[in-house]
Amino acid sequence: MTGQLLTKDHSRIGCERLRSKVMTAEDAAALIGSGATVGMSGFTGSGYPKAVPLALAARIEAEHKAGNPFRLRIWTGASTGPELDGALARVDGIELRLPYNSDPIAREKINRGEMEYFDMHLSQVAPMAWQGFLGPLDTAVIEVTGIRPDGSLIPSSSVGNNKTWLDRARQVILEVNRWQNPALDGMHDIYYGTALPPNRVPIPLIRTDDRIGQPYLQCDPDKIVAIVETDAPDRNLPFSAPDEAARSIAGHLIEFFRHEVAKGRLPQSLLPLQSGVGNIANAVLSGLLESPFENMTAYTEVIQDGMLDLLAAGKLRVASATAFSLSPEAAASLNDNMADFRDKMILRPQEISNHPELIRRLGCLAMNGLIEADIYGAVNSTHVMGSRIQNGIGGSGDFARNAFVSIFMTPSTAKGGKISAIVPQCSHVDHITQDVQVIVTEQGLADLRGLSPKQRAELIIAKCAHPAYRPALEDYYRRAKKSSYGQQSPSLPGEALSWHQRFIETGSMLP
Ligand code: COA
Repeated sequence: MTGQLLTKDHSRIGCERLRSKVMTAEDAAALIGSGATVGMSGFTGSGYPKAVPLALAARIEAEHKAGNPFRLRIWTGASTGPELDGALARVDGIELRLPYNSDPIAREKINRGEMEYFDMHLSQVAPMAWQGFLGPLDTAVIEVTGIRPDGSLIPSSSVGNNKTWLDRARQVILEVNRWQNPALDGMHDIYYGTALPPNRVPIPLIRTDDRIGQPYLQCDPDKIVAIVETDAPDRNLPFSAPDEAARSIAGHLIEFFRHEVAKGRLPQSLLPLQSGVGNIANAVLSGLLESPFENMTAYTEVIQDGMLDLLAAGKLRVASATAFSLSPEAAASLNDNMADFRDKMILRPQEISNHPELIRRLGCLAMNGLIEADIYGAVNSTHVMGSRIQNGIGGSGDFARNAFVSIFMTPSTAKGGKISAIVPQCSHVDHITQDVQVIVTEQGLADLRGLSPKQRAELIIAKCAHPAYRPALEDYYRRAKKSSYGQQSPSLPGEALSWHQRFIETGSMLP
């Protein structure tokens, strides 16, 4: 079947010489061997390859039935869609996964100890791949919107690590997806100026809307071994409508921004917004729609529904990110109105969208979700009860440490009130207290800047904890101050994680 064409319409493949590489997804998947390291495109449910991973999954399943072990090491930009992570995890085809996952099947495999997972800062993936710490990259499988006559590639709805995968891989498989809007052409800014020490130079991005690279990805045509044509939608999940808690969190945060503007610590247009993944982050963006702030900008990782609404309303002037992360309705609306949006959005490689140098220079306002925070303000973004991975750290570390203001937000309880998001001590720490400046729950906002650990604890308990858990936190803190080994950050080590143990044993943190 080699060379069989999915379709006779090669209109998205402008480079004559590359048309001979068109083949089926099955034939392309046959070019990848067991044990290979495969760098795939994809960042949230956007721009990931949709046909080759499914064909690989079918092949792996057949190999396993025949008694042949077949597993791959999969690198991506961040999470992807069910046709990639879900399909490969279901057939037990992933030996190691990096740098981020939110697929439920893969999550289950990781938590059962059946898949290795290297959860890493998203800005560090490309440099680490270049440094060679991750090992060699055998194959890149990259979705693109089209191939230009000169062989350069029009990127898709995410950029992620595609530049690095195309440069580093021994062989390249392209998926040309006709579903992606051709008007994406020109929206991307691919910077080819990063290097390894001692040859690094400053990245010349001074403003959110600066373009410092070129619109296209480059790839040595001799490395391209297959091109697969697809016509398949990105698959992001819909956002849930903001509930009471999400609206309260948004309200507290907007009040905080107003206060900072009034004090002269933030301009009226604020500073470039970074908004994390998830429903709460999206609700905050929706809240900004009704806010007094105008002419805002975003320097962030993903463009979510809320950001599109802000752009459409003219509240947001420009959004720079590495991917779209839109609900199916918002993706359809963007596709229908691309002409109105294309000059207001820039998609960049994730090493640039998340670069610490740029986040620090621009002074981003980082707003990320959390699993739990402790009374001193350390934050756990990744592990439930200290051992079960939820998603991963994603870009939260890139932004939190380097932001102008680092904000974390969460409902004060989880799982119907059985879990307190504010605990005596985090069961796992992703963000140390020095990287957490503001914590917001529906109960209130704790501005921790300039406070000592004891002052932080008193504020977090009073402002952020749920009333059902506040007395127990006050009691713990009072007793800790009485008999702690030291008084800088009073604690009772034997008791500090007892809330988690109680949940594991009884299904509730409540005493
Ligand atoms: N204990 C147990 N489970 C918890 C929990 C806790 N303390 N806090 C949240 N959860 C669970 C929720 O119950 C929910 O589970 P479900 O999907 O089974 O219903 C899930 O985590 C998501 O929580 P939700 O309250 O819906 O918030 P969210 O969608 O805003 O996600 C994080 C919160 C922390 C999971 C998410 O922000 C994340 O993955 N962060 C890390 C990566 C990151 O910050 N990226 C952005 C950087 S640019």
